[in-house]
Amino acid sequence: MDRRVIVDTDTAGDDTQALVLALASERLTVEAVTVVAGNVEFEYEVENAKYTLSVLDREDVPVYEGARSPLLKEWDHADHVHGEGGLGGDLFADTGIDSADGHAADAIVEHARDAPGELSLLCIGPLTNVALALAREPELPDLLDEVVVMGGAVGCLGNDTPAAEYNFWVDPDAAKRVVRDLDVTLVDWGLVLRDAFLGADDIARLEGVDTPRADFFETISTAPRQFTRETTGEDGLTLPDSLAAACLIAPELIEEQARYHVDVDEREGLTRGYSLVDVNGVLDEPPNATVVESVDADRFTELFLATLSGESPESAL
Ligand code: RIB
Ligand code: CA
Repeated sequence: MDRRVIVDTDTAGDDTQALVLALASERLTVEAVTVVAGNVEFEYEVENAKYTLSVLDREDVPVYEGARSPLLKEWDHADHVHGEGGLGGDLFADTGIDSADGHAADAIVEHARDAPGELSLLCIGPLTNVALALAREPELPDLLDEVVVMGGAVGCLGNDTPAAEYNFWVDPDAAKRVVRDLDVTLVDWGLVLRDAFLGADDIARLEGVDTPRADFFETISTAPRQFTRETTGEDGLTLPDSLAAACLIAPELIEEQARYHVDVDEREGLTRGYSLVDVNGVLDEPPNATVVESVDADRFTELFLATLSGESPESAL
């Protein structure tokens, strides 16, 4: 299996690790990285994406700069989670790598048109770039293969507000359009809490591992690990974007998934970014998304740790 993929990312923290998984995968060909406003200041995100490529010796992958703000709403960072620059607090990347010419949304459209039905999207940030791509090319749903989205909080508290997960909260107008028009596979915050928490024991297994990837993980994980300790009392960190990457790389990790009608509340106010998932079908609307409900957490951990040890994710399957 060789799937062509664009990774759309607000590169900080776990986004970098999701990129590592995608780049190290034998099953994916990452054709481009597109950057969107999200976790930290936009210029930091762009540098973080390039720095991640350099850790993998993959500076050949083009980085396209995209939306510098959400479609309509005010942008709020998450640098209190990931550190100011987004790479753990102390590391501020300055790679000297040029960005590719053109806007991220155009890059998504052009790569999709190149080979209709072949390109998949791994969306691990707010969905602004993808919504803009949809506006530029209404046929995009027919041009794409799979669209895996990390976003939403299905039947659980959000991580940004009680009602909303961060990616959907930042640009709910974009999330609403993308979920409505593309047939997405949703990896939500509740799934992350259930199946993608890397605990202290797992992290300790990396202590003797001397690879650039493991060193990079240690750097980026300092700030989110501290945040997790302070907010939950637990020692470890969640891997939302890496879980989304793993679902694209290795769908055999998925234990349960189901089709539901999904919508997003774009209104300003208490429920901004809320992801409505009609589990009981009471709205009588056709299903428009696949919601991943259970992943083999142990196998995901092995896949993640194997990749940081310098192997391909597939080596752990
Ligand atoms: O809610 C989790 C998402 O927001 C992830 O994409 C992560 O990057 C975070 O900031
Ligand atoms: Ca992200």
